[in-house]
Parts: sequence; structure tokens; C-alpha cells
Amino acid sequence: MHKILVLTDLHITPPGELIIGLDPAERLSRVLDAMRAAHADADHLLILGDLVHYGTAEEYARLRGLLRDLPWPTTFMMGNHDDRDTFCATFPRAGLDANGFVQSRITLPHAHILCLDTLAPDAKPRHSGFLCADRMDWLRTELARAPGTPKIVALHHPPFVTGFDGMDRIGLVNRAEVIETLQACADVRLVIAGHIHRTIMASAGGLPMAVFKSPCHQMPLQLGAGTSGLSIDESGAYGLLLVGPDGDICVHTEDVAAHKAAILDDIASK
Ligand SMILES: [Fe+2]
Ligand SMILES: [Fe+2]
Repeated sequence: MHKILVLTDLHITPPGELIIGLDPAERLSRVLDAMRAAHADADHLLILGDLVHYGTAEEYARLRGLLRDLPWPTTFMMGNHDDRDTFCATFPRAGLDANGFVQSRITLPHAHILCLDTLAPDAKPRHSGFLCADRMDWLRTELARAPGTPKIVALHHPPFVTGFDGMDRIGLVNRAEVIETLQACADVRLVIAGHIHRTIMASAGGLPMAVFKSPCHQMPLQLGAGTSGLSIDESGAYGLLLVGPDGDICVHTEDVAAHKAAILDDIASK
């Protein structure tokens, strides 16, 4: 099985700036330590956007320092808090498509992961996501590549309604077009996303979907109006995909608490 680590919504801030009293850099470091300890053998790390909070060069430089010496090849994606040009200036080796969008394919021996760029600063309302015609063309080309090869599609904005009304208002504007495009490809096995800061499983258009928590602040399960700005100090987290040779995928999530509980073996103690 191939192990793909997943992070999303890092929201790195300038030094000294906290989000709901939490330091996103300190939270990320703690989660990375847990990932290194448990999954140094993973094949890849995928980061699903909202890499930083304000899109500044100072924040991206801070992120680059935090990610120094990782044991995994890393693929970055854009979220609504990112700035594409500033990101690219700091991470010049990041994967881009022919039009300069942060879109790339991770080629595993038995599957492809297609990483999309839903950042759209001009989309209304602000912070919603959009895949323009060029990005949709890239997606269609990649979906048609290597027929029969299982495809995992990754994007920041989930392409379905979550029930968090405020977040759904800043969701993926052309999600119906995206779902229709994915449905037309028999190889799509899973869609993964971030943006909500909460673990969510879904089926949309008949496709299985998973949304991952942030290493920092999370979304409380408070549905209804005004829910785009709510945050709660729960454990940071990361995700892990196990991709089998038959294209089957198992999705794990792991909370990283401040104090790790001891793992007890109930069988061995008897
Ligand atoms: Fe976020
Ligand atoms: Fe987001």
C-alpha cells in the first residue's frame, strides 16, 4: 500500500500573531512531529491549501522554514487565504500547470492524484472557489490520461453542500460543473478537500468525498447562519490515505492532542 499524508488549512501567521489564542506555527510543528514519529515511511505529503493566513511573503518564508527537512516529497495546493504569485516566489519548485495555476499530478504506481487550484480572488463572494475554463481543461485532460488508472482528486473547496451555511456561501462556485466532469470519468475513486476545518465524509453525485481537519483551529458542529467565522480550540490533526494496488483507498484521520494518551494493550495485560 502507498501512504499519502494529508495536511490542510495550516493558516501560518506572522510571528506573534495568534488565531483564537493558538499559534498556527506551533500547532503545525507539533503535528509534523507526530507525523514524523508515526509515518516517516510515507510516500508523499499533500497540503490542501490555506497554507498561510494573509498570503504574505513573510508568512510563506515562515512556512518554508517550518517545512525544512521533511522526509516526504511534498505537493502544495492553493486555498482562499493564499496568494499564488507570492507562494510561487517562495516555493519556485512547486508544481504548476501550463497556465501557471498550482495544479499537478502525483503519479503513484497504481493511481494518480490530481491536485487542483480553486483559488479565485475575483470570485463572489470573496473567499469562494472557482475552477476557470483553463483549469477545467487541465482536469479533463488528466482524467482522460491512462484510462483504467484509479484517480484521486484533491481540491481546497469541497464540491458539495456541508450544512455550514456560511462556509457553503464561500464554497466552490461551479461545483455542479466539477461534479459532472468527475462523474464522466469512470476512474475517479475519491475526492478530498479542506477549507471547512472539520472531518467530514460525504457522497456527492455518487462520488465518495472526505474533508480533513486543520493542524490548528477547527469548525464546531454548529450548523446554520453565520458559520463561516466560527472556530474552536480542538486538537490539531492530519490525514492519511492508504492506496492499494487495486486502487482501493482507506482514509484515516489522526488528532494530535497536546498530551498524547498512552496506548494500552488490553490483550497483553491479561
Ligand atoms: Fe482554512
Ligand atoms: Fe479555506
